[in-house]
Amino acid sequence: MFPLLLLFLATLVATSQAQGDHIAHQIHLLRPQSGARKDDVPGLSCVSWRLAVETNNMVGWKTVPKECENYVGHYMLGDQYRKDSAVVTNEAYLYAKSLKLGGKGKDVWVFDIDETSLSNLPYYAKHGFGVEQFNHTSSNEWVNTGKAPALPESLKLYKKLLSLGIKVVFLTGRPNDQRTVTTNNLKNAGYHSWEKLILKGSSYSGKTAVVYKSTERRKLERNGYRVVGNIGDQWSDLLGGHSGNRIFKLPDPLYYIS
Ligand SMILES: *[C@@H]1O[C@H](CO)[C@@H](O)[C@H](O)[C@H]1NC(C)=O
Ligand SMILES: [Mg+2]
Repeated sequence: MFPLLLLFLATLVATSQAQGDHIAHQIHLLRPQSGARKDDVPGLSCVSWRLAVETNNMVGWKTVPKECENYVGHYMLGDQYRKDSAVVTNEAYLYAKSLKLGGKGKDVWVFDIDETSLSNLPYYAKHGFGVEQFNHTSSNEWVNTGKAPALPESLKLYKKLLSLGIKVVFLTGRPNDQRTVTTNNLKNAGYHSWEKLILKGSSYSGKTAVVYKSTERRKLERNGYRVVGNIGDQWSDLLGGHSGNRIFKLPDPLYYIS
C-alpha cells in the first residue's frame, strides 16, 4: 500500500509542477516540448522563408508553402514562437519604462488583436497552419466562439504598460459586428480595460489594413493622444505613417495581411 501511495503522491506533485511551469502558459494543447523540426525540404529552406516573411521581404503571399506545414506547426506550437514573442515584448517593456510620460493621461499604446493580444492558434492548428487558403466562414465561426486565448507575452506587456500609466488602444481589422464577441473574448482572456477598442467600420471596406490603421492612428493623434508604442504581428499594423514613437513586430508565419 505505502509505496503505491508514495507513487501516487509523487505523480500528483509532478503533475502540478508541470502545470505550474508549462501547461498553465500553453496556448494550445498540442504544444510539444520543442519548436525544433527538420526545416529543410528539397529546394526550400523553411527557416529562410520565415525570415523573409518576418522581415517584410516577402509580401502579398497567400498561403504557407505546403512543404513547410510541419515546420511552421512545430514553430508555432513549440517554444521558439513563445521565445521570439518574449524578446519583442521584453524590448517593448524596457522602452516603455524609459519613457518620460506626458502626464495628461494621453499616452497610449496601440495593440493589434489577432496573433498579438489574442491567439488563433487553436483554429490554425486544425487548419494546416496557414497552408490552407483563408476561409472567412470557418474563421468567423472560430472568432465568434470568443474562445481565443491571450498570447501570454502580450498580456504580460499589457499589464506592465497599464502599471506604468500608459493606456491601451486596441486597433483591429475585425469588423464592427464582432465588437461584442471581441469585448467578451478580451475580458475573458485577461484584458480588462482599455481606452478604446477600434474595429474596422464599413467606410473602410475595400481599403487595406495599412490605410485603415494609419488613418485611425492619425485620428488618435488629432484627438490629442500620443501613440508612444505600437505592437502587431503584421507589418500592416505598423507601417503607413502615424506609426507611433516605436513599433514592435511580433512573429507570425501563418498569414499575410496587406
Ligand atoms: C469554409 O468553411 C466552411 C465552414 O466550416 C465550410 O463549410 C466550407 O466548406 C469551407 N470552404 C472551403 C473552400 O474549404
Ligand atoms: Mg494581427
